[in-house]
Amino acid sequence: MTSKGVSRVRAAVINAIGSAFEIEEVEIAEPQGSEVLVDVRAVGLCHSDLHFAQADVGMPLPLVLGHEVAGVVVAVGEDVTGLVPGDHVVGSLIQSCGTCPRCTAGAPFQCLNPFATLRGPDEPSRLTRDGQPVFGAFGLGGFAERALVHENQLAKVDTAVPFAEASILGCGVLTGVGAVLNGAGVKEGDTVAVIGLGGVGLNVLSGARLAGASRIIGVDVNDEKLALAASFGATDTVNGADSDAVAAVLELTGGVDHAFEVIGMKQTSEQAIAMLGVGGTAHLIGIHKPDRPIEIDVNTLLAPQRGIRGVYMGSSDLHRDVPRYAKLFLDGELNLSDLISREINIDQINDAYEELKNGAIARSVITSF
Ligand code: APR
Ligand code: ZN
Ligand code: ZN
Repeated sequence: MTSKGVSRVRAAVINAIGSAFEIEEVEIAEPQGSEVLVDVRAVGLCHSDLHFAQADVGMPLPLVLGHEVAGVVVAVGEDVTGLVPGDHVVGSLIQSCGTCPRCTAGAPFQCLNPFATLRGPDEPSRLTRDGQPVFGAFGLGGFAERALVHENQLAKVDTAVPFAEASILGCGVLTGVGAVLNGAGVKEGDTVAVIGLGGVGLNVLSGARLAGASRIIGVDVNDEKLALAASFGATDTVNGADSDAVAAVLELTGGVDHAFEVIGMKQTSEQAIAMLGVGGTAHLIGIHKPDRPIEIDVNTLLAPQRGIRGVYMGSSDLHRDVPRYAKLFLDGELNLSDLISREINIDQINDAYEELKNGAIARSVITSF
């Protein structure tokens, strides 16, 4: 498996945008500088990876996606200070240099120099296939047996957290719970609606419960998702396929303090704005197709003083938030286990993404290669 520190690993590769994942062997370099070689034990199938496999956003090909990663440190580069072999880690696509003004001000998710976590254009690629570069998306490339990652993108996690649950911490939980606790600043007693109860949206419900929201309304078009919602803190559910979601939320609350859109659709983003009460804010989390701008009559924002904002990666500080959410999970205060619909082999990745597209499942997690 190894020669001169280079390992050969199985990976799910995208060779053309819009094509299926292909399971192939790639070579992965040994760690240098601040890099950490991670034995991937679990990697979640986040919807964003499918988005980047199907929409050309300029990522180089061939491409290894996968950004919801948990595993064990195998080896570290000479400059790594915070991790040693054997540590359990969670990866995140939040790329932060650690030294720019935003990073030092405690906002690593707004880093001005995010590519500092990647190798430079003149350095050999971390991943190769037959000697040719393969791009590991977001500095992670988690759909593979091993990943080579800058230590700033890894947080140490308690070994008591199972790998599948730990992997979800890296995106779904950071994005969803963080959007509420860090991004929106939901206060005790506030009313909250969440549109789209996928792997991220269910975590927005969890965040609202942790924040002490008085009314938490989950909106989805899939009854199986709505049935899951109560175990994440929803006090009410609305099926947006059977009824007018805006009218239903207005009837239940008179208009919410916070609406979260967690799909990335024009229609549901406009719904999130329309279901706000006076002084309410719509938090847009889902990634949109670039050709579908939303339409807003600004007058509907003015007198009621409604706001709209984008929240990215739950405004998270990985090193503060991953241990915090792991502790909440271990204390029984954060439901992670019901997020994991199925543990699969990497060979099943295309079928599992088909199921995710159909909306019936929360998360499949690859736990074997
Ligand atoms: N109204 C309400 N819910 C809907 C609608 C609709 N019109 N259309 C789809 N949904 C629901 C689906 O039934 C599903 O439960 O939205 C949910 C989307 O969940 P996932 O596909 O699991 O997506 P997830 O991984 O949670 O990501 C959601 O957040 O971080 C971003 O890139 C990510 O844009 C994506 C979004
Ligand atoms: Zn994700
Ligand atoms: Zn920075």
